[in-house]
Amino acid sequence: MNKGPRIAVYPGSFDPIHEGHLDIIHRCRPVFDRVVVAVLRNTGKTSSFFPVEERVEIIEAVLEGFDDCRVETFEGLLVHFMDKVGARTTVRGLRAVSDFETEFQMALMNRRLDPRVETVFFTPKEEYSYISSRLVKEIFLLGGDVEGLVPPVVRRRMLARRGGPAGAR
Ligand code: PNS
Repeated sequence: MNKGPRIAVYPGSFDPIHEGHLDIIHRCRPVFDRVVVAVLRNTGKTSSFFPVEERVEIIEAVLEGFDDCRVETFEGLLVHFMDKVGARTTVRGLRAVSDFETEFQMALMNRRLDPRVETVFFTPKEEYSYISSRLVKEIFLLGGDVEGLVPPVVRRRMLARRGGPAGAR
């Protein structure tokens, strides 16, 4: 039986993508033939740092050269998007026990919505386990340096929004 390519969808807000996200992407690459990074287009949310299109641009830049990865946006239910791209597996990162409850709930809900969908969890490298997009934004907005927490391109884009040094790496 030809099961077709193993496609994983890694969904999230990615506002912005950080080193923990990137680590998860690289961990799931050897396990799947293709990884679709799916950025949620949340129309109701107004307080984002980067607009969705810029988030996509940034992730594309970060994943440049990785031909097994592509970036898309989605709105509505994740399971509908997965069906559209022919994926049966969704990938999520589990940083700590505190993530578990929400992730478990989402995994079961997605399975209820579409019993063909499986959720696979990857754990990031320990040094990334405390990074979240929320904290990255908070640190940045309060004048802290996000170097090492986000890929260099993200830091540059964040600084550009603040009107910081254009060449900062
Ligand atoms: O990066 P985040 O904010 O933790 O990602 C959450 C995300 C985008 C994975 C989740 O909110 C989601 O899948 N939203 C789509 C709507 C949906 O399918 N809801 C029902 C399943 S719980």
